[in-house]
Amino acid sequence: MQNLDDIVARAIGEFGQAHDPAALENAKARYFGKSGELTSLLKGLGALAVEERKAAGAGINAAKVRLEAALDARRAGLADARMQARLAEEALDVTLPGRGRSLGGIHPITRTWQRIEEIFGSIGFEVADGPEIETDWYNFTALNNPENHPARSMQDTFYVDHKDSSGLQLLLRTHTSPMQVRYARMHKPPIKVIAPGRTYRVDSDATHSPMFHQVEGLWIDEHISFADLKGVYTDFLRRFFETDALQVRFRPSYFPFTEPSAEIDMQFADGPFEGRWLEISGSGQVHPSVIRNFGLDPERHIGFAFGSGLERLTMLRYGIDDLRLFFDGDLRFLKQF
Ligand code: PHE
Repeated sequence: MQNLDDIVARAIGEFGQAHDPAALENAKARYFGKSGELTSLLKGLGALAVEERKAAGAGINAAKVRLEAALDARRAGLADARMQARLAEEALDVTLPGRGRSLGGIHPITRTWQRIEEIFGSIGFEVADGPEIETDWYNFTALNNPENHPARSMQDTFYVDHKDSSGLQLLLRTHTSPMQVRYARMHKPPIKVIAPGRTYRVDSDATHSPMFHQVEGLWIDEHISFADLKGVYTDFLRRFFETDALQVRFRPSYFPFTEPSAEIDMQFADGPFEGRWLEISGSGQVHPSVIRNFGLDPERHIGFAFGSGLERLTMLRYGIDDLRLFFDGDLRFLKQF
């Protein structure tokens, strides 16, 4: 039936032209609706003779099946296109680089602090922590530095207006040495400890800050000598600065709480400080009076102590010439670590 083939071809063409579901339903109605073309043909069958009706009916049905398939395909195509359009519209571009989280760094002083704990930890030193607001007694008196003794003026500090519960004057500790006494009164020998922490003095210039850091070292047993101090400290410096080409000397000095006392100086074999003796630490054999304040018998217990500045060690390690850089909080400086 030529007519039927034309209708099918036209209908398929129109379905294809329908760009949304409503247009497609309208196109469908033109063929399948009450007065649609296929419907009219079906209605016309009744007027045909029996033989003709059979053949014509089969043809119309076949056309109907084809058109329904075309309709379904078009419906699916339109739904699919709509989905694609929505996906495209609502797409998130996950390939955009993120805003990122900036990474913090470890402050150079903290790095030094960690290195010191690591190195002394590896040779059996405990790490202790103590108060920055200290009593006059621990900071001075117990360290053989009695009230009104001129040696106190070596370490002027900030005094706190209040006294502690037992009426002792409070101050910001001027060194980590009070930790020698605190720790030794709480532990039995052998005592082998370092105590890093913040310390305070009335001092402020390129190499002094009112707040700075020290690490105290204390090794007390029955036979710890100056030779042990030399060995331990020289080994520490070589490991801290990662070079064996480093010289250490002990220069006689005075501290009320050690006897004999020495400043420890060091010298690099090369680099920016080559050939210069650099003062790095105070040290000495712990004074018998101080051993007594530990609650120990100086006839039996003996050993050494040292106190080193963390800023100084850090400046020498990284070649920094102004200590104030550590506390300015300038990211251009801090980012380099
Ligand atoms: N506490 C001393 C200072 O700050 C250093 C020191 C510590 C000296 C231990 C001897 C023994 O200057």
